[in-house]
Amino acid sequence: MPLKMTWNMKLFSCFSSKTLPLDLQSHVSKPHSSQRISLSDISDLGSFSAEDISNCLIGSNLHIFTFSELKIITNDFSSVNFLGEGGFGPVYKGFLDDKIRPGLEAQPVAVKLLDLDGAQGYREWLAELVFLGQLRHPHLVTLIGYCCDDEQRLLVYEYMERGNLESLLFKRYSIPLPWLTRIQIALGAAKGLAFLHGEEKPVIHRDFKASNILLDSDYTAKIADFGLARDGLEGDQTDVVSRIMGTHGYAAPEYIMTGHLTTMSDVYSFGVVLLELITGKKALDKNRASREKDLVKWARPMLKDPLKLETIIDTKLEGQYSFEGAKKVATLAYQCLNRNPRSRPTMSNVVKVLKPILDLNQIQVTSFGCLFETEGRNGKIEANAEKQEVDVVKIPKEKESGYHQYRKARKNRHHVKSQFAYSDTALVLSTPQKER
Ligand SMILES: Nc1ncnc2c1ncn2[C@@H]1O[C@H](COP(=O)(O)OP(=O)(O)OP(=O)(O)O)[C@@H](O)[C@H]1O
Ligand SMILES: [Mg+2]
Repeated sequence: MPLKMTWNMKLFSCFSSKTLPLDLQSHVSKPHSSQRISLSDISDLGSFSAEDISNCLIGSNLHIFTFSELKIITNDFSSVNFLGEGGFGPVYKGFLDDKIRPGLEAQPVAVKLLDLDGAQGYREWLAELVFLGQLRHPHLVTLIGYCCDDEQRLLVYEYMERGNLESLLFKRYSIPLPWLTRIQIALGAAKGLAFLHGEEKPVIHRDFKASNILLDSDYTAKIADFGLARDGLEGDQTDVVSRIMGTHGYAAPEYIMTGHLTTMSDVYSFGVVLLELITGKKALDKNRASREKDLVKWARPMLKDPLKLETIIDTKLEGQYSFEGAKKVATLAYQCLNRNPRSRPTMSNVVKVLKPILDLNQIQVTSFGCLFETEGRNGKIEANAEKQEVDVVKIPKEKESGYHQYRKARKNRHHVKSQFAYSDTALVLSTPQKER
């Protein structure tokens, strides 16, 4: 792949600390020091060096790790520490403490390794670093540091104990998430998006979906994965992008059809997640009956009709929800999923609607840190204690390190599958289509 070769040659040759720093001004224009650097300020991504990165992220308190440090904290990328894998590459659990660096706070972390052969690449790695390195909010996952030793590209995040919402909501044998926990998660994620959209230079996430909402031990929702994020335009202006990136089932129709990207595209994706929370069904599922395969197409018309709404609410909830609250959430999802982006609510309005729904029921935070509905819809006391699911971990043959096994397996898979086969962050369309 000639393009990759060019990146490798340009990027990886200038990471040695002995190399003279490139002139930052030739790559970055930063009009005011108080302003956030955006990807578009970086004129030549390909020649952006490690020094440039650390210079432009000054003040972000990010740690720069070496590859050997990250190998140590993940037990050589052992498969026992493997958390999962998306389009970016594999993610491993690690543990940081002051044995690695004096003064480091002892804490578990998640280490994401850029798969150099994968569907997502250096641009996504840099986007994640540039956005999350500068944006801090209780509902955005915290980036702790990064590594760019030689050709390695890694990111180190706070560890989110309960993993991602997609697994929690759809895993077959997991204990169902209680209604109020779902609302709490929706509200947290909405606050995260409202923060992004409310920035002086709004940020469009572009890949908002259940698997990119991570959950803390107390179910605090935090938005992750800024690899596809983009700076939005101010006011009413829309950006027309030439490559439509995102995830099937979550991407807004106008964005797929025309490439028009606004903060309202994220609002649509939020509506899809809200619908998943209400119904307990995935946005797209080939295994469902044909008219139900596409959740939005099938369920949206029923959101406005209380009788029909009852039939689509997740049966796993066993009626343990406030119907008044459910109707409000359903109306909100209906509005977010409006085909006309201008008719969708802003994320700050979504927050305003969701907040009182959480207060509709008395909430009790238990010693498990979970939310319970003390009085369900039928007046019974709900006593569903949630337990964390234990993931089945495949024990590796201990000959090679997890990382090396992973690289080998990756190489073999590459021969039989396309580069997009490992990620649902797939290219939706390569070029925008004209509106029909
Ligand atoms: N900070 C974190 N703490 C705990 N687990 C994490 C963290 N970041 C990612 N993970 C887990 O690692 C796995 C891979 O995440 P990743 O974001 O790379 O892929 P994905 O969201 O499944 O797919 P996509 O590439 O479409 O975003 C997921 O199971 C996710 O829950
Ligand atoms: Mg993800």
